[in-house]
Amino acid sequence: MSSLSRVSALCPFMRHAHAKASSDIFSKLSPRVNGSCPFLRNMSTTAFDNVVAKLSPCPAGAAFLKQRFSTSAAANAAAQPKASPAPLPAVDAPMHTAALPGASPVAMSRATAALAEHMEKLRSEGRYRVFFDIERSAGSFPAALNHTPPTVAGAGASSTASDAVSEPLPVTVWCNNDYLGMGQHPVVTEAMHETIRRSGAGAGGTRNISGTTPHHTLLERSLADAHNKEAALVFSSGYVANDTSIATLGKLIPNLHIYSDALNHASLIEGVRHSGAKKFVFRHNDYVHLDQLMRAHDPAAPKLIVFESVYSMDGDIAPIEQICDVAQQHGALTFIDEVHAVGLYGDKGGGVAQQRGLEHRIDIISGTLAKAYGVYGGYLAGSAALVDTVRSFAPGFIFTSSIPPAVAAAAAASVNYLKSSSAERYSQQARAAALKRKLCAANLPVIVSESHIVPLMVGDAALCKAATDMLMAEHRIYAQPINYPTVPRGTERLRLTPSPLHDDTMTDRLVAALLDVWRRLGIPHAHPLAVRPADPAEVPTIDPQAYSRPAVPPHVDPLYDIVTGAYLDAPLATVAATLAPTAPAAATASAAPAAAVSAGAAEMVLDAAALASLKAAVTDAIAAQRTGAEAVTAAAAAAHGQQQQQQQQQQQHASMSV
Ligand SMILES: Cc1ncc(COP(=O)(O)O)c(C=O)c1O
Repeated sequence: MSSLSRVSALCPFMRHAHAKASSDIFSKLSPRVNGSCPFLRNMSTTAFDNVVAKLSPCPAGAAFLKQRFSTSAAANAAAQPKASPAPLPAVDAPMHTAALPGASPVAMSRATAALAEHMEKLRSEGRYRVFFDIERSAGSFPAALNHTPPTVAGAGASSTASDAVSEPLPVTVWCNNDYLGMGQHPVVTEAMHETIRRSGAGAGGTRNISGTTPHHTLLERSLADAHNKEAALVFSSGYVANDTSIATLGKLIPNLHIYSDALNHASLIEGVRHSGAKKFVFRHNDYVHLDQLMRAHDPAAPKLIVFESVYSMDGDIAPIEQICDVAQQHGALTFIDEVHAVGLYGDKGGGVAQQRGLEHRIDIISGTLAKAYGVYGGYLAGSAALVDTVRSFAPGFIFTSSIPPAVAAAAAASVNYLKSSSAERYSQQARAAALKRKLCAANLPVIVSESHIVPLMVGDAALCKAATDMLMAEHRIYAQPINYPTVPRGTERLRLTPSPLHDDTMTDRLVAALLDVWRRLGIPHAHPLAVRPADPAEVPTIDPQAYSRPAVPPHVDPLYDIVTGAYLDAPLATVAATLAPTAPAAATASAAPAAAVSAGAAEMVLDAAALASLKAAVTDAIAAQRTGAEAVTAAAAAAHGQQQQQQQQQQQHASMSV
């Protein structure tokens, strides 16, 4: 194969040029070749000679060579292609624009060193991510095959095990987000097969250009109906839905103030960041703090509150009603991410807002089709006007190919199925409760969450990885370690996701395996976040459709948030001051290390003594604040009661006057 053909085969630009060999191509080609083509740049002298020989007979090629190498003999030779070929000089000069002598290698090695340093840090902290090649067995999930060779899995030597050659091993999966097993449900897989047979594989375009099919339209109608909203819009993922829609709202609404929960998912955080809007981070699930922040800033500014329903790492649930109350008081729009709740809560599977009868108070709901619905894609549901605006302006919707028709059809089948069938939801909650009870009985550090998610605390990245390796290698149980930055340092964990397809035998095997691993690795049986009842029988089974108000106030734990550094926006001193305006001197004194905490820092470093005194100071403040929050809740309840009474009186009055 000639050099030119070789280059052409490898290089998209040259391939194009070679194939067309037309006179104008080089004028198009030259700016792109200029420094951007790795193949031409690194071509050997001989190869270069060959290229020149091929280009020279062509007038445009000759002009191109002249333009690029006008000072060299090569250019002269190229300019007179018919003349007997003068020996070309040894052309060692790269074809890209001349860089400052010596600058490029230095810059390149600095870039490489910086990347290597990041990777080294990751490895040294035991946070290097190793992907297991897990092949789920349709029809017998949670059974799966692990294709990862033990050396790769154990040593963490590779980021992927795609070069796996050893025999796959059967495993039981305990960390999958196909919460209900809908990914293998015949209704779903049949819809996918049937659509592939009829329409083929891909959509072939963006939604605007040939990528909208009846399957997409029907899916959006079905989603709107599942959420009792006017409209819905499908995106390529839940991540994209969050990121692009929040960013778009922030760009379109002048002076939008965005209020974002401190533990929001990365896709929401990125959306807020990309919006360029002014942002305020309220303490996790702390609607009192949200209210304070809103009071403290421009009351006339348009506002958007961004939060989740089920927080996927702790499994706690937002105080949606109280957040809606605050939103109403301040005229704010509400954006709730129900990614870990859709399909699982509410009589139509619309999520926790639906289960709590609050859907009408939420302006925008975002969801995924890739977890409980078992397929792929993400979406928004809301008013027709809002959805149409995002459809018309969001780059993440407009400039990307639409999901394949078969994916849309399978997702629609799943959404429709879970709109009418609740058996899976109930069964999942029963399995989750059974697992929580067994973990409590085994004295393992489980967070008995308000949801279907079962976090088991380890508290150390390396131990967490070792535990999951041991579970896989010796017990054939797959549970991925969850480390920083997915969770704060010191709160590393296993995140167990029981489904209706896990049975008692599997659950017992899991608990026995965990006890074995905990004992052999010396993992503590207690963790500050592992809150569980003394009596396992007290673990409730959640009714996914009927919500009853919890006896205790919703999860508000500023102390935890401070310690774990969840306050991304506020230096610790400010946080302490906000929490405890009248707190003892310790609060201020101990806040000194906060100097080390810059705004926007992802984590907080405190020495033990400072941390202890800060904890003591803020504990008082939190107690005071909780009392305040309860008072606010009580006042709100009283006001709500009064309002209802008034409404009843008005209704009576109205009916009497008809
Ligand atoms: C809370 C939350 N929102 C959004 C997403 C993104 O959803 P998807 O997986 O569909 O991109 C995730 C993903 O895990 C999530 O946990």
